Amino acid sequence: MDARHLLDIESLSDADVTALLARAQEYADGRTAPDLLRGTIVFSLFFENSTRTATSFETAAKRLGAQVVAWARTASSMAKGESFGDTIATLLAMGPDAIVLRHDEHGAPGWVAAQAPCPVINGGDACRAHPTQALLDALTLRQHFGSLEGLEVVICGDIAHSRVARSNMALLPRLGARVRVIAPPNFMPQALPDGVQGHTDMDAGLAGAQAVMMLRIQRERMDAADIPDAAAYHAGWGLTPERLERAGLGAVALHPGPMNRGVEIADAVADDPERSLILRQVANGIPVRMAVLDLLLRA
Ligand code: CP
Repeated sequence: MDARHLLDIESLSDADVTALLARAQEYADGRTAPDLLRGTIVFSLFFENSTRTATSFETAAKRLGAQVVAWARTASSMAKGESFGDTIATLLAMGPDAIVLRHDEHGAPGWVAAQAPCPVINGGDACRAHPTQALLDALTLRQHFGSLEGLEVVICGDIAHSRVARSNMALLPRLGARVRVIAPPNFMPQALPDGVQGHTDMDAGLAGAQAVMMLRIQRERMDAADIPDAAAYHAGWGLTPERLERAGLGAVALHPGPMNRGVEIADAVADDPERSLILRQVANGIPVRMAVLDLLLRA
């Protein structure tokens, strides 16, 4: 790996992306390395809630023989008033071999990486970046379609507050996909990356899509007054079987989770074994995070 840390997609070279996805596919195909990271200790620091990312990083590290210290903010001395800076300085003084960090502050993993002597892996920071989610989404799409070259991918929902959308808009076009986004006007970012089209009308935006990635409304990142009515939102921007059918022949649905069923996605789409790749995304979280730990810790 050229990169010492994994902070965002933009700081990965093309060679890094290729190596990570290749190693992840090997792990997905059954490669095992139970002693690869034996003797190393990974600190898992989730300052924001997680089910998928925290659990799959811990599983990935243990599958490679590492030990994991799963720190919990609510059980920590931050409850007694210790600052984030002092917490990080304290934890770094214990000498972890790697840190996985999620935080609701923009750039927090980069701030930690600037002072850490070990690799720091971003498990998601604010609305900025969620690089391992984008890598597992790319792996899932590549497994399903064979290649991302020319693939029509639509990301739909609360784009403005989504680190998943940002990381996917940075990664998927580099792999050859054509990416567009659909969002209600108040959830559309002021600017989109070059080459990414924006739509506010769901049906127009979905036309010709081969993969539709739905995103939840990030309620924790907005004022209560800006949270839309669930039924009205579903009527305008929810993915139903009918909409997916109209999108494109054989179009599939993705969602990084957690899902809000009946809001951005209907049960009949989420649970459709032919059309939903959602649990495949979850499963791919482990080989992708094994690849990240493998290539970063052994660099
Ligand atoms: N996709 C994702 O980041 O899910 P968690 O918040 O459960 O980790």
